[in-house]
Amino acid sequence: MREAPIAVFDSGVGGLSVLAEIQHLLPNESLLYLGDCGHIPYGEKTPEFIRQRCSVMAGFFREQGAKALVIACNTATVAGVAELRRDFPDWPIVGMEPAVKPAAAATRSGVVGVLATTGTLQSAKFAALLDRFATDIRVITQPCPGLVELIESGDLHSAELRELLHRYVEPLLGAGCDTIILGCTHYPFLKPLLKTMLPADISLIDTGAAVARQLQRLLAERDLLAEGPSRCAKFWTSADPQALKNILPLLGQTPGDVQSFAM
Ligand code: DGL
Repeated sequence: MREAPIAVFDSGVGGLSVLAEIQHLLPNESLLYLGDCGHIPYGEKTPEFIRQRCSVMAGFFREQGAKALVIACNTATVAGVAELRRDFPDWPIVGMEPAVKPAAAATRSGVVGVLATTGTLQSAKFAALLDRFATDIRVITQPCPGLVELIESGDLHSAELRELLHRYVEPLLGAGCDTIILGCTHYPFLKPLLKTMLPADISLIDTGAAVARQLQRLLAERDLLAEGPSRCAKFWTSADPQALKNILPLLGQTPGDVQSFAM
């Protein structure tokens, strides 16, 4: 079981930012990645739809013999993690949430911005996160429709993307934010562009590395850490496999085996 793979999924290619953190921290592990690219953006879908997709993908990974599951998507976590944990109680499942707690600890101005999907920002889980960790700070939230679609198309710096991003970060800067949470796993791919657009003293925080550490903890507790050597990551997509193959190198992955996921 220790050498069994770890399964990672997202609505699309965003979870590759989390996959990279897992590869970095746990180089002995073999990884399976599924991008539900045929159904983006999750951020504008109903929780019921996303829950149903989570359940289909988790069932698929169980059949693949995965020893753990990472929901590399904030939007899918708010919609589906509780149900998956109920349905698969013996499976280590790691979800993710916007980094409100570390941002509250890091801010000096006391004003924190959150860029995330509409689905994440409207969820009760996000409201609970603010109630818990944002009592002493001001939080400005900004939904970002359109960003995910551009990133999925391999666009990390066009004029259109820059214009959209500018529109989303402007209100945060205007409100005095010195810390911006990237609350969607697609957005870390925009860090290089964001750094050229933002004042140098603005910190950008995401949760990919924390997710990898939590995964490591859960596996260690169960004596499930692999000794290696790892096998190449395997990829599935519910859209065109060639499109994912093309975009993988742009997002830091070697274009390995990419298969179609038709469920
Ligand atoms: N990457 C996902 C997240 O972390 C959502 C992207 C989408 O809207 O599909 O929230």
